[in-house]
Amino acid sequence: MSSRVRLGVNIDHVATVRNARGGAHPEPLRAARLAIEAGADGITAHLREDRRHISDADIGALSELCHGLGKPLNFEMAVTAEMRDIALRHRPHAACLVPERREERTTEGGLDVARNHAAIAPVVRALRDAGVRVSLFIEPDPVQVAVAEAIGAQVVEFHTGAYCEAVIHGRDPAPLLEALKRGAGEAERRGLEVHAGHGLDYDTAQTVAAIPQVVELNIGHFLIGEAIFVGLETAIRTMRTRIDAARPGA
Ligand code: PXP
Repeated sequence: MSSRVRLGVNIDHVATVRNARGGAHPEPLRAARLAIEAGADGITAHLREDRRHISDADIGALSELCHGLGKPLNFEMAVTAEMRDIALRHRPHAACLVPERREERTTEGGLDVARNHAAIAPVVRALRDAGVRVSLFIEPDPVQVAVAEAIGAQVVEFHTGAYCEAVIHGRDPAPLLEALKRGAGEAERRGLEVHAGHGLDYDTAQTVAAIPQVVELNIGHFLIGEAIFVGLETAIRTMRTRIDAARPGA
């Protein structure tokens, strides 16, 4: 169980900077290419309903790039008919279903699959039928994990935001880390692959990567912010080193 943890690099905030001026620079596609050259195992992008960062054209270009390089594209999407149809058109390697509210600054909590399973299950089925690997972005809660399995998800991605916020603000992160560990154990027992993401930096990524069931981390905002100071390649290589340090011998 000490295999190397995959690093998915989320490039949404390259598009955020581009969109601040409405032009083409900086290009998310160039960032994705560079991320893969620097050691990213895949690219993650969230096409939000309001298109505040990634655009439809970005998704087309990223799909082509990842396909050409044989690298997975992880398409983050709200559970809507529009996003389902876009995913079915591009057939990315994976789709991660996330909750989405227009007024939020970022994805502020996990998907409540226990409450909304009737709406989520048909989207999971449609994506799976098209050969897309389906991940559900949830809190590390045993009930959410159980429902994720019941509706046919292959992967759960645990929202690490609460844990990372506790670390940043000096609150005791131990119970939140414990919940992530328990959730990962529960997911593994149910045969689900475990991913994690949101708010991770070098330190928290290393801690979460040490949870034995975690096979993939998806990291965006910190890496793009850090790239301002050290460049994207160095930021990704440093992250890679820190994640690998969590799994000695992998
Ligand atoms: N995973 C999921 C499902 C997300 O929605 C996000 C944010 O878009 C991330 C990972 C990456 O979070 P961050 O940008 O805080 O690293």
